[in-house]
Amino acid sequence: MGNELVQITAVSQPGVAGALQTSSVASAGRLKTFYIETFGCQMNVHDSEKVQGVLLARGMKPVEDHAQADLVLYNTCSIREKAAQKVFSRLGAFRKGSSGAGKVIGVLGCVAQQEGERFFERAPQVGLVCGSASYSQLPRLLDQLEGGNQRVSGLSLYTDECFETELTRRDNPFRAYLTIIEGCDQRCAFCVVPMTRGPQRSRPSEKILAEARGLVDEGYTQIQLLGQIVNAWQDPSPARWSFAELLARVAEIPGIRRVLFTTSHPRFFGPDIVQAIDSHPTLCDQIHLPVQSGSSAVLARMLRGYTREEYLEKIHSIRQARRAISLSTDVIVGFCGETPQDFEQTLSLMKEVEYDQVFSFKYSPRPNTLAQANGDNIEEEEKGRRLAELQELQRQIQLRRNQALLGETFEVLVEGYQARLGQAVGRATTNRVINFPGSSEDIGRYLALKVTGAGPNSLVGVRV
Ligand code: 5AD
Repeated sequence: MGNELVQITAVSQPGVAGALQTSSVASAGRLKTFYIETFGCQMNVHDSEKVQGVLLARGMKPVEDHAQADLVLYNTCSIREKAAQKVFSRLGAFRKGSSGAGKVIGVLGCVAQQEGERFFERAPQVGLVCGSASYSQLPRLLDQLEGGNQRVSGLSLYTDECFETELTRRDNPFRAYLTIIEGCDQRCAFCVVPMTRGPQRSRPSEKILAEARGLVDEGYTQIQLLGQIVNAWQDPSPARWSFAELLARVAEIPGIRRVLFTTSHPRFFGPDIVQAIDSHPTLCDQIHLPVQSGSSAVLARMLRGYTREEYLEKIHSIRQARRAISLSTDVIVGFCGETPQDFEQTLSLMKEVEYDQVFSFKYSPRPNTLAQANGDNIEEEEKGRRLAELQELQRQIQLRRNQALLGETFEVLVEGYQARLGQAVGRATTNRVINFPGSSEDIGRYLALKVTGAGPNSLVGVRV
């Protein structure tokens, strides 16, 4: 959900229906094989899928181990300092040993944009630095590397282009990511994204719809529309659909069973989205709506553009929906100047809303953000204490909410199987995980499960 932190090695099974057509590839030169590792949000995961499409179209081959790769890519995240540090520990491995010899090491994504050409000094083994707003330049940059250039970069941030690829190597066989909007024009005081992903740019509705139809033709039944602020999408084509209309049109594609979208910003969240969910059963009953804080004073300093009361009104409109919609959120604790009373307000908002899932983080000052100048005046220990208290509260809320589902039946899409436990795992439209006795043959099927057990993070069920 949301911008949940996942770390994937993007070299794995191709998507359903062997989606790649590589017949018209150019022959690769010096760079014949690649390895890519991805940190951060779903946008990054999907960017890596598109980057792989670019590399495959050049005739390059994916490998499972960076030792075998001519081109090693790290797609980086800089949302918090800890995430940003990961790439430097990866690069350290190449410095110590000789494993970097003969390879090109490339850094993509948000840390690449943030650090820019300083990477070449900080990590001399790096030959390619490219931010997400410049990915359409990748073929040219790769040509330059093939031509013998030692250091190439794509760092221009101000673009009105989206990253369009002819090929995309989708790694998840069940859920196809589809970017509808890139960049971000908000200036939330804590957030580095506008500085690393550039200005907001929406893809035209006809392109989105054509891609969605193509995915259904390939065999996908679940599509997740992506954007840093997905609901700020504005149709640049003459059709001028609203975001809610786009949701409805994607949900109506014959063959589609589940449509999800992340991440919504409360500022752009209107009742038309709830109406679209109400009238389209294929639009999933889950909304991720990051609140960040329950204190209006903190929200104002964060420049979020809404008060606690305005946020709660949006939640109220979601709770009026015909189907029970599951709600998740992101919360930051210990933002500069957050008083114990502000923090109490966050806890009270969580008690009032009763989210189904909360992603919570300690505030981490980021370069070039507005809040950076205000300092970081809450001690790490205090941030840790607040985080633990918040997470314990949420654990109890989730346990209670999940226990209330005992005896209910949900349709799940089966995503995996653990042979050791004889258990398969499925996901309901509310994003809840349900484990049940099953087999590897269940993977990819839609099944009805009755809930027989409940923990804070998942349910147990049996087939009905
Ligand atoms: N420090 C801590 N958490 C942050 N997030 C964004 N910027 C920061 C930061 N500087 C969190 C927000 C956002 C999620 C993706 O990461 O909660 O919604």
